[in-house]
Amino acid sequence: MLTISAQAIKPLTCKTDCLVLPVFSGKHISHHTTGVLASLINQLKKRGDIEGNVGDVLLLPHVESITADRLLLLGAGDDKPLTRTQYLTLLGHIAEQLAKMKAHDAVLLLDEIAVEGHDIAWCAERAAQKLLNSTYHFDTLKKDKKKNALKKLIWHSDKADKAITQALVTGSAIAAGMALTRELGNLPGNVCTPSYLAEQAQHMAKQHKNLSTKVLDEKQMHTLKMGSLLSVSAGSDQPAKLVVMDYAGGKKNAAPIVLVGKGITFDTGGISLKPGAGMEEMKFDMCGAASVLGVMHTISTLQLPINVIGVMACAENMPSGGATKPGDIVTSMSGKTIEVINTDAEGRLVLCDALTYVERFKPAAVIDIATLTGACVIALGNHASGLYSNDETLGEKLFDAGMQVEDKAWQMPLWDEYQQQLKSPYADIANVGGRNAGSVTAACFLARFTENYPWAHLDIAGTAWNSAGSHKGATGRPVPLLVRYLIDASKK
Ligand code: BES
Ligand code: MN
Ligand code: ZN
Repeated sequence: MLTISAQAIKPLTCKTDCLVLPVFSGKHISHHTTGVLASLINQLKKRGDIEGNVGDVLLLPHVESITADRLLLLGAGDDKPLTRTQYLTLLGHIAEQLAKMKAHDAVLLLDEIAVEGHDIAWCAERAAQKLLNSTYHFDTLKKDKKKNALKKLIWHSDKADKAITQALVTGSAIAAGMALTRELGNLPGNVCTPSYLAEQAQHMAKQHKNLSTKVLDEKQMHTLKMGSLLSVSAGSDQPAKLVVMDYAGGKKNAAPIVLVGKGITFDTGGISLKPGAGMEEMKFDMCGAASVLGVMHTISTLQLPINVIGVMACAENMPSGGATKPGDIVTSMSGKTIEVINTDAEGRLVLCDALTYVERFKPAAVIDIATLTGACVIALGNHASGLYSNDETLGEKLFDAGMQVEDKAWQMPLWDEYQQQLKSPYADIANVGGRNAGSVTAACFLARFTENYPWAHLDIAGTAWNSAGSHKGATGRPVPLLVRYLIDASKK
């Protein structure tokens, strides 16, 4: 496991596999650049080997008369602060280079890099999050495991600085929560079943004080009249589970923030069967639930002074003789009846009952997280999660949190006009509203069940995993956004 800590470092005489140093293109010269380093960098700049522009990377495998084994130089631009994106790209280059050279440890002399609108603690937190997260690989189910060489990072800090130390702890805890979310997302549907997710939550409760887990089985859900949730698992041999994690870090009587995750461990579409091509990706349909688990891990590790309840609504969506059919009408826990026009719109069916269930906690706010609609991917692509809220302040806070940690969400409308699309001649509401505005009408469906508390919905269909490329697989989003929001909330 990789760790990161703060320490004051002497660049010329420290022993490390790799010294990471910024080179500025403007007048500014890093105060770490003294002695042999100063003349070396002057020479490199003169020869044009590195100019110091953002994006420049130069690895020197050996430098005479310094004790570090390698020197990694990174362009840090002219004397202007970097944009958030530039800084994160720079961190990406560091991660890439350290992995390639198989360094065991590295020293980061990044304390002079300024980022627009952020302080140095933010920079340290992002470095911890990004560099630790970059060492995650999914090889749990491979015979040969890939070992990470990198074990230890040091963030240079002139003086013992509490804010920096805390930032590194926070960034590391976010990365750990993301790793858990990614791991569960990447596990296939035959391993990661509703029961498996429930076990993970129970296991986690044993590791942290202040955290307890309760698992409701189908019999208990039946007693609670969760006819909508149970209609989704009806076609599956895997029983549904409603997992309730209670983190009590705040004042005893303080109203909790409730997170509700969609936990469809595999979505075939049910009787409204999905096309075969790409269906394997529907193992990721529990990434909302996995992000709830990831966040619970992070906040328990950080011992945030806040009360949070994490709920995972878990089921498998399968076709069978017992499966729910198009046209079936089910009764939700709220008492509202639902005409199931399309059994592939199952996420909202499990969520609506979970959202009614959480009323009992008298929540300060409820946020659900779901890989809910393909339409959201069409609308926003892979860059932003869809954000909906019935409460302006809550919507703004979540938007801001996403921007702060570069885990963006973009607000979409919940206007009444869209509710018309969910009318049913046979039941109180239909579970689909046609092709137009598919992400919006899905959110509108949930809004019918969340009138009694401030609520927000994150549609993470486009952000929870990458379909291709070198980063194929679960991303760990929106753990950073949610943790940022909860840290801010815990300060009030
Ligand atoms: N899990 C899917 C949504 C999804 C699809 C996420 C592709 C990511 C990529 C969800 O259960 C679903 O099937 N939604 C349907 C809704 C439709 C039937 C109204 C969809 O988006 O097609
Ligand atoms: Mn579906
Ligand atoms: Zn689904």
